[in-house]
Amino acid sequence: MGDGAASRQSHAVYPGSFDPPTNGHLDVIERAAAIFSRLTVAVVVNPQKRDPLFALDEREEMLRASTHRLANVRVEHFSGLLADFVLAVRADVIVKGLRVVSDFESEMAFAHMNRALCGVDTMFLMAHGAYSFISSSLVKEVFLQNGDVAQFVPASVLRSLQAKRESAGGVHVDLPRHR
Ligand code: PNS
Repeated sequence: MGDGAASRQSHAVYPGSFDPPTNGHLDVIERAAAIFSRLTVAVVVNPQKRDPLFALDEREEMLRASTHRLANVRVEHFSGLLADFVLAVRADVIVKGLRVVSDFESEMAFAHMNRALCGVDTMFLMAHGAYSFISSSLVKEVFLQNGDVAQFVPASVLRSLQAKRESAGGVHVDLPRHR
């Protein structure tokens, strides 16, 4: 890099519900942490799609456990508008992952809206092909039907899922579907 803006310190925010974090999320986090000098993983307090399976502190803890080796990554939470959080932490850019073409339409609207609200651009990382079909909602659906999700989530998330199953007192956890 030269002496221009590209070489200055850059702080990125990667927002999401992370209910739960998946290997796809971790892939985006690792790649973004290698590009930007600081990355704040921003966990939304109240996901828009019904009640989360995991409480806010559980989602934050799973993210911290799976990113602890990345020195420039912090995990925080926010409520209200993402644009307000981005301004509050003085971030330079929002990072999102794109898995499939159908993600693009809604993400484009979010990116335009966030830029209109806070003047900060969104940059997209294409999900690794191996993770393009993995979503939190699908992981939960497979898990709740007693499927093996070990290959789709970090070890800390798998432990949390298993603990959730045990605390529910049995093999089958009849919880509502979530994204
Ligand atoms: O992991 P998700 O559920 O796809 O993340 C969605 C999230 C949290 C990024 C989005 O719902 C969000 O930004 N929520 C905060 C409220 C907000 O700012 N809404 C306007 C978006 S332009």
